[in-house]
Amino acid sequence: MPLAIISGTHWGDEGKGKIVDYISQKANIVIRAQGGSNAGHTVVVEGKKYVFHLIPSGILHSGIKCILGDGMVIDPADLLQEIQFLRDNGWEESLQRLLISEKAHLVMPYHRLFDQLQETFRQSSRIGTTGRGIGPAYEDKVARWGIRTVDLLNLDTFKEKLQLVLNYKNIILEKVFQKPPLSFKSIYEQFEKYSEQLKPYIVNTLPIIHDALASHQNLIVEGAQGTMLDLDHGTYPYVTSSHPIAAGSLLGASLGPLSHIQSVGICKAYTSRVGEGPFPTECLDHIGETLRERGGEYGSTTGRPRRCGWLDGVVLKYAARINALTSLVITKLDVLGGFSKIQFCTHYRMGNRISWELPNHSFDWNTAQPVYQELEGWESDISKIQFYNDLPRATRDYIEFIEDFIEIPVAILSVGQDRSSTIVRK
Ligand code: GTP
Repeated sequence: MPLAIISGTHWGDEGKGKIVDYISQKANIVIRAQGGSNAGHTVVVEGKKYVFHLIPSGILHSGIKCILGDGMVIDPADLLQEIQFLRDNGWEESLQRLLISEKAHLVMPYHRLFDQLQETFRQSSRIGTTGRGIGPAYEDKVARWGIRTVDLLNLDTFKEKLQLVLNYKNIILEKVFQKPPLSFKSIYEQFEKYSEQLKPYIVNTLPIIHDALASHQNLIVEGAQGTMLDLDHGTYPYVTSSHPIAAGSLLGASLGPLSHIQSVGICKAYTSRVGEGPFPTECLDHIGETLRERGGEYGSTTGRPRRCGWLDGVVLKYAARINALTSLVITKLDVLGGFSKIQFCTHYRMGNRISWELPNHSFDWNTAQPVYQELEGWESDISKIQFYNDLPRATRDYIEFIEDFIEIPVAILSVGQDRSSTIVRK
């Protein structure tokens, strides 16, 4: 595995955190490529739960460097909280291995405020963001108003940039939203403190990454969110503001289109999505409710209940193409235990048309009806099983059906939250 890219195949929350932690056992560097504290990566080790919003999920393996990559947007307050959490939980050592790219952008207090104001302004067309300022931080990056972590290394330039951006933001606050201006002094003073606390971690990460590649070390690039939330390739406009697909991960980790990349798709055994937007296989009945309760489908960042439904194979096939997947990991298989029948969506019906492809127009998305292949379910609890051949026949049939459908091997199965509840297929 010199370079493995981990991407979510659907709308996020596929369990990427657990799998990145698991495969990090063999890694030298884990790089988080994009997003910010809108992600929530959960890792459970010997019953203890860790939720990382910004720090790469490989941090719980000593000896591994963990990089917050160029493509990220970082809220210093959230990051410092996570650093403190690691300290409080006996992981002081891990902070020696933590690095922040100088090119990553900062999430500023006005980004959070604008996130909330913009969502309110959209009324019934709201996106359903986490309200953590991620979208507005990326907006500023593209508009060239962004302030980067490297600016925390020189407070004179930081001050100049903040003054200019804040003048502009305050005009919008006042004229568009009729809100009072934000105080330069209080933001500056706060960031002076952040600069002091974060300075030791902020470095030029490019040579570290490329030297590691040149010496054949193992690198993992951890994507957040999922394929269908990609800014260009997801269910626009109900998407995130960055690129969770594999190509975006390369960009966000300062990597080019190298050969021999392992592109690993993390796919949940059923599908969920949080926030607004199309979701053809959503089950609004007791099935959706059962999946939500059994799967604990409540946001790890916001606590919001997730919408749940059967596995959408049309989306999975699309994810396989767009991420150039070389293997698949299926998570939360244990959650399906107890269903006598399982449905798998192979294609959509839109009026009198059928489609094996994802639509782009919102009208088609809204009328897309899933067409299911019914498979046998299994009653038993599979969460303690360690070997593939010990799984019930129906579970293996489900995996092999998925594998045949997308023509990509399923390499790892996850049957519980804990690191130990993982089955590697030989
Ligand atoms: P985002 O980047 O925010 O999309 O998150 P993610 O893909 O990293 O998902 P997350 O780590 O939050 O996983 C979702 C939840 O599923 C967490 O509570 C995990 O502990 C849990 N989980 C992961 N794998 C399994 C599994 O095989 N079985 C069960 N029951 N829970 C699992």
